[in-house]
Amino acid sequence: MNTYDLIMKKRNGEILDKEEIIYLVEGYTNGTIPDYQMSAFLMSVYFQGMNAEETTNLTMAMADSGDRLDLSGINGRKVDKHSTGGVGDKTSLIVGPILASLGVPVAKMSGRGLGHTGGTIDKLEGIPGFQTSISEEAFIKQVNDVGLAIVGQTANLAPADKKIYALRDVTATVDNISLIAASIMSKKLAAGADGIVLDVKTGSGAFMKTLKDSKKLAEAMCEIGYMSGRDMTAVITDMNEPLGNCVGNVLEVIEAVECLKGNGESRLMEVCRELAANMLVIAGKVDTIDSAYPLVSDAIETGKAYEKMKEFVTAQGGDASYLDDITKFPQTAYERVVTGGELLDLCEETKGLDTGYLVSCDNEEIGMASLLLGGGRRTKDEVIDLSVGIRLNKHLGDSISRDEEMATLYANDEDRLKEALDRFLKAYKVSTSAIDKKSVIYDTITRMK
Ligand code: URA
Repeated sequence: MNTYDLIMKKRNGEILDKEEIIYLVEGYTNGTIPDYQMSAFLMSVYFQGMNAEETTNLTMAMADSGDRLDLSGINGRKVDKHSTGGVGDKTSLIVGPILASLGVPVAKMSGRGLGHTGGTIDKLEGIPGFQTSISEEAFIKQVNDVGLAIVGQTANLAPADKKIYALRDVTATVDNISLIAASIMSKKLAAGADGIVLDVKTGSGAFMKTLKDSKKLAEAMCEIGYMSGRDMTAVITDMNEPLGNCVGNVLEVIEAVECLKGNGESRLMEVCRELAANMLVIAGKVDTIDSAYPLVSDAIETGKAYEKMKEFVTAQGGDASYLDDITKFPQTAYERVVTGGELLDLCEETKGLDTGYLVSCDNEEIGMASLLLGGGRRTKDEVIDLSVGIRLNKHLGDSISRDEEMATLYANDEDRLKEALDRFLKAYKVSTSAIDKKSVIYDTITRMK
């Protein structure tokens, strides 16, 4: 077997067998296959696709590329959650404390930002002192003591995914159903939970832009998990505009705190409620989703979930006083307010008018604007600026008027701010006619024993 032949085989649209896929995954993980050959292989997969059997074989080869986490030392049924990636998606920071405050252990491995999307680990590193890398023993102890731990993917958990994920990020090979399914499910299977709730994003800010592709991705992942003995639910949620009001690492931590204190933006809270309720069902805490919703609301209203967030942050070395007093977080050098008038004047239909409606958003461009501000990585080793980002006052379907503050961009570099502002302004379309607000939850797919 040699790598060149396998790249050509996939480039020509042929099917790879299990041994061939293992050869590629093992070779790339141990360094005998270089980045340039793996990049070519990934691009071939991007254009030619993989069938269900190839996708499962790729997932298993990646899950077996390192250790599998043994969570048997944690009491109770362990439920994991994972998002396929979006803009302003801070749901793990909200759902984790809710579940833990209700007595469901959450042992979560999370990722960093990928392309235009953010990552939970980057966000948590915005809290001074927070350790995203702790030993397996400390991780398990924390879940037993506190009910929640969130760490970065350890070096030996699905190391193949770690390397391939970083390479895909810089070779335009992220948005492919098989590659995303294998990436997410290899980590989730290696991370050892009994059940998994997936948040499959759909729309302009997601890797899957259409509902049809998002459903295919959700079905592929549920099938892989189910065949490996896991209870699976995938909730398909909207990503045609940022989720919530904030995009950017520290800004999203601050927004998560607002949500846990009961002041969350409605669409963001709807997604969190749905994910948390499904996790409660899979954990066996309740029999039906309808009996789960009141528990979720109660966790927030009583302040239990917010207290759990602080306990979790403290346990992982973070300074929880920043959550109680968000003014302690470092401020950026520049704050650029965007007014409704700037957007109205950019669209032919509303030029010169005093009011209009926000009717569409190229959400990937909003993610790119945040990345350009310094909140994401352009190369795989780039150091990011955790304090920059965007705060939105308006959402799709809202009316905007000329003098109203539509958003604020936070930056530490004037040139980056200019570039990001340009992308941000062009992302929105404004019209004189109103549109209906879109639902944030589209569908739910379940595969359970
Ligand atoms: N999240 C992942 O973990 N992997 C992907 O490929 C995309 C999103």
